[in-house]
Amino acid sequence: MADLSIDFAGIKSPNPFWLASAPPTNTGEQIMRAFDAGWGGAVWKTLGDPIMNVSSRFGAVDLGTYKMMGLNNIELISDRPLEVNLKEIYEVKKRYPKHVVIASLMTETKDDWRVLIKRAEDAGADGLELNFGCPHGMCERGMGSSVGQEPKLITEITSWTKEFARTPVLVKLTPNTGDISEAGLAAVAGRADGLSLINTIKSIIGIDLDRMVVLPRVGDGSTNGGYCGPAVKPIAMHMVAALAREAGITVPISGIGGISNWRDAAEFIALGSTSVQVCTAVMHHGYRIVEDMIEGLSEFLDQRGMKSVNELRGAAIQSYKEWGELDLGYKIVARIDDQTCIGCQVCVTACNDGAHQCIFTGDEEKQRPPHAHAHGPAKPPRPFPVGLIAGARVPWIDEPECVGCNLCQLVCPVPGCISMVEVAGENPHETWNDRTRDGRTKLPGGIHD
Ligand SMILES: Cc1cc2nc3c(=O)[nH]c(=O)nc-3n(C[C@H](O)[C@H](O)[C@H](O)COP(=O)(O)O)c2cc1C
Ligand code: SF4
Ligand code: SF4
Repeated sequence: MADLSIDFAGIKSPNPFWLASAPPTNTGEQIMRAFDAGWGGAVWKTLGDPIMNVSSRFGAVDLGTYKMMGLNNIELISDRPLEVNLKEIYEVKKRYPKHVVIASLMTETKDDWRVLIKRAEDAGADGLELNFGCPHGMCERGMGSSVGQEPKLITEITSWTKEFARTPVLVKLTPNTGDISEAGLAAVAGRADGLSLINTIKSIIGIDLDRMVVLPRVGDGSTNGGYCGPAVKPIAMHMVAALAREAGITVPISGIGGISNWRDAAEFIALGSTSVQVCTAVMHHGYRIVEDMIEGLSEFLDQRGMKSVNELRGAAIQSYKEWGELDLGYKIVARIDDQTCIGCQVCVTACNDGAHQCIFTGDEEKQRPPHAHAHGPAKPPRPFPVGLIAGARVPWIDEPECVGCNLCQLVCPVPGCISMVEVAGENPHETWNDRTRDGRTKLPGGIHD
């Protein structure tokens, strides 16, 4: 079985699966249950001066029957006395010395940072995570994302903490910024030992239209919250990848955002994460999801012949390029399996209205709409396909005109019915950057033609 253990900036963890700083890491009792379930580490709910929370605090976007595809919260940092949290950190580390406990911290002045760091480290924390990401409430008080949005402040406060810290310092970044690389480089300039991202995305989850009040409703009003859960995974993956391929980012990354299962975790690791952190999926399904994550990732590594999770780290990064480096000659087309097609016509509508007008039903020749199409009328294949289920309602694809956009495959309700197949393209292998170098960037039909 593949070795799942990792070394994150000197912090050794039995596996890459950590709980993110959030309600699942509110208390020592919870974290010990999580460790028993299999989590390798936990980032404690952010510590600082205790705060007051409001009721209610969460809102969500469902997708069909899938609940909480996106979660929004207006909760602040820990509302428990610092001393209580610290005693529990001590207790957890005493009972689980091989598991990782990171203390997430947030405070204001340099002296506050000094004292908070000393107290967290004296309690036994293996490392510190600076919360420069919370986009609600705390940022109005000059903390959280108001720091994470200002590279100069990131560098300055990180370097304060490095003066005091004896354990590794992770900087948790906010996605509410124009350029995540700038923020990551600022943390490295402040001598951060690692980066965690993403924290939540500034958002409004909805409106109670009967009361005309923003959600989640706190009496007669609300405020913007932080968005997370499966909906944010693509945004988080882009930000992790942007940092992983940035030459100036020389420290390990803890990937966070919408991770719910082993596949999500494997994707974040392939994009350069050393550990992954999970919040929403645990709030939804409980600590035990880690059992499947451990099993799934182990099996995947075994199947790929990888002896350790470290071999997966960054494996997909070299494939993440600038648009200008993509192969303009590469071509795929859609193919429909007439045996499984149910004749629903969803692909026909999607391609006709939302793509390139090249899927048709019926066996007559089709005239093309008068625009970009290069080839003559669309000719149905001969012999005309008659589907097992759809009969003559199985659509056909005019391959020379298919631009290989994937839309029909994405909307088709029958898994595997539409496949995208590589074909010889009409263009040579070249990139836009090649054309730019040769001065061939002007195409016919431009502004001055
Ligand atoms: C209710 C709630 C409270 C959170 N509190 C904190 C916090 O105290 N400190 C922190 O750094 N992040 C906090 N987060 C952000 C999470 O740690 C995590 O970065 C974010 O939820 C994205 O991960 P996910 O998509 O797995 O939920 C909180 C998230 C939620 C939903
Ligand atoms: S891949 Fe795009 S262009 Fe081709 S048939 Fe499907 S929807 Fe139409
Ligand atoms: S290919 Fe898929 S989307 Fe198109 S008609 Fe058949 S089942 Fe429906």
